[in-house]
Amino acid sequence: MKDKTVLVTGADGGLGTHVTQAFLETGATVIGTSRKIEPSDFKSPNFVAIPADISTCEGAKVLVDRVVARFGKLDILAHTVGGFAGGKSIVETDNETFQRMLDLNLNCVFHILRAAVPVLRQTGNGRIIAIGSQAAVDPGPNVGAYSASKAAMVSLIRTVALENKDAGLTANVILPGTMDTPANRQAMPDGDFAKWVRPATVASLMIWLARDAGRDVNGAVIPVLGY
Ligand SMILES: NC(=O)c1ccc[n+]([C@@H]2O[C@H](COP(=O)([O-])OP(=O)(O)OC[C@H]3O[C@@H](n4cnc5c(N)ncnc54)[C@H](OP(=O)(O)O)[C@@H]3O)[C@@H](O)[C@H]2O)c1
Repeated sequence: MKDKTVLVTGADGGLGTHVTQAFLETGATVIGTSRKIEPSDFKSPNFVAIPADISTCEGAKVLVDRVVARFGKLDILAHTVGGFAGGKSIVETDNETFQRMLDLNLNCVFHILRAAVPVLRQTGNGRIIAIGSQAAVDPGPNVGAYSASKAAMVSLIRTVALENKDAGLTANVILPGTMDTPANRQAMPDGDFAKWVRPATVASLMIWLARDAGRDVNGAVIPVLGY
């Protein structure tokens, strides 16, 4: 994928680190973004760090403008930004938590899509691969704000898939179950780590969807649940 320009959002997160590393190993140029990303986060000469806050429309637009100004194009958007809040029923969930879930899991997707889709359309074979959650389609008690925000982002991605297939652009969303990240090991030290989804598995699926073979998969909602 040496000729590809990839934007990974949440590039220094528990999953994003694996996604960034996997794209770097394909030989692609990888722009990693988060609010705190640094050039030294990845050793590869193909890695470029552009810090950005994509919780606003303007933050996402400035980011994509900087990518285009430097590389002239964007081929692939790998969106991993998101976050979890749980432990409260809907009645107990405060407005601030509900809004935070919407901002992180839904509004960030909306902003980056608005900024990136016009640029991705120009390549004729652009790719969007976004990370949702199993909770988007399988809500459980006490995770209502998170589930609702992820369900809505899945809907946005499927809509973008339909709206842009005329330009050869595909948009798909992966729904992981609990992943084996350092943060999860710390939060759930008694969990059975071996049954959790390996982040590298999700990263390799993202690479597959980004390659030419992924051309035939559009609007898919793909569970990756571990065992
Ligand atoms: N972990 C799991 O078990 C699990 C399961 C299912 C689905 N998921 C989903 O998988 C994705 C990755 O999860 P994770 O565990 O890797 O999360 P994580 O470690 O918390 O990483 C989140 C990343 O997003 C970045 N970020 C947050 N807000 C941002 C903003 N406003 N602008 C730009 N970047 C921002 C963070 O960096 P900064 O703070 O530096 O900005 C970080 O790089 C999320 O969408 C999550 O909902 C996770």
